[in-house]
Amino acid sequence: MDYDRYDRVRAVQWQGDHLRLLDQRLLPREEHWIDCRDSADVTRAIRDLVVRGAPAIGIAAAWGVVLAARQGEALDPALAMLRAARPTAVNLMWALDRMKARIAAGADAEALAVEAQAIQDEDLAANRHMGELGAALIAPGSGVLTHCNTGSLATAGFGTALGVIRAGVAGGRIDRVYAGETRPWQQGARLTMYELVRDGIPAKLIADSAAAHLMKSGEVQWVIVGADRIAANGDTANKIGTYQLAIAARHHGVKFMVVAPSSTVDMATPDGEAIEIELRDPAELLTTAGQRTVVEGAQALNPVFDVTPAGLIDAIVTERGVIEHPNALAMQAVFGR
Ligand code: MRU
Repeated sequence: MDYDRYDRVRAVQWQGDHLRLLDQRLLPREEHWIDCRDSADVTRAIRDLVVRGAPAIGIAAAWGVVLAARQGEALDPALAMLRAARPTAVNLMWALDRMKARIAAGADAEALAVEAQAIQDEDLAANRHMGELGAALIAPGSGVLTHCNTGSLATAGFGTALGVIRAGVAGGRIDRVYAGETRPWQQGARLTMYELVRDGIPAKLIADSAAAHLMKSGEVQWVIVGADRIAANGDTANKIGTYQLAIAARHHGVKFMVVAPSSTVDMATPDGEAIEIELRDPAELLTTAGQRTVVEGAQALNPVFDVTPAGLIDAIVTERGVIEHPNALAMQAVFGR
């Protein structure tokens, strides 16, 4: 397919001596870039959601290690700080473990930059491959619903679930694209719609609460989502609201696809129960665009991920292949351990 036609955003850019990040907090209102010059800058950017999405977080952290080495920072504390930036997306830990192994092998800043670039390049290649694999599962004329943002903004490019949607639209299999707004941070409304409009892919935004209604009306044949961590039995942590989509999909006979690179698979985590779910500031719920929208004195609870049990997933698509009806045995056959 013509990748340049369908994929134009690059949110994580190494500039030779610093890292440039497209500030995702301000999209789509403003395209503002933030320059990171040391590991603390990158840690802050990950924690504050300047850069977000599991693979993009891992890539940014890898460049954070490069910056630490270039600045002569003590590397162990820098790695620990980056690792603690967010708890759920395992791509962060995976990328840092890869960088740590290179450090242990004696790599200097230049060699670490080669590794970080490899992590970034491999992610783009994986996404393009997964796009083809996932799109092949979809019957021509289908409607799809996605959640959160899993596109170029969340990865090295092309995207995971959004990559499948890009490939499915390009290949004529997908006729209708719906994106849930993804409250409270609005990754779907602000980021997925931004990417789809830029690509010229016709799509409709829906309120998260409209999903079951849409499935019932026959508009949607597949729910396609990304992942932040896939446990050894196929249980999948992803953006809050994914689990209820999976339940609604099963009830309506709609298929449910998870698309994620192998860097999101964590065979050391036995099941979803063992995945730490990030709790973020209640202010994300109590305010909209910086304005308080809920009565003073009200409290809020803001878990930002949930776990979809493997039994509700029809297919997990990774660059290593498609796992249909995932379970511990099927996962082990592909990922070992
Ligand atoms: O809190 P976020 O925006 O980092 O959460 C992102 C998601 O949940 C995505 O679905 C996931 O990281 C996959 S991105 C390819």
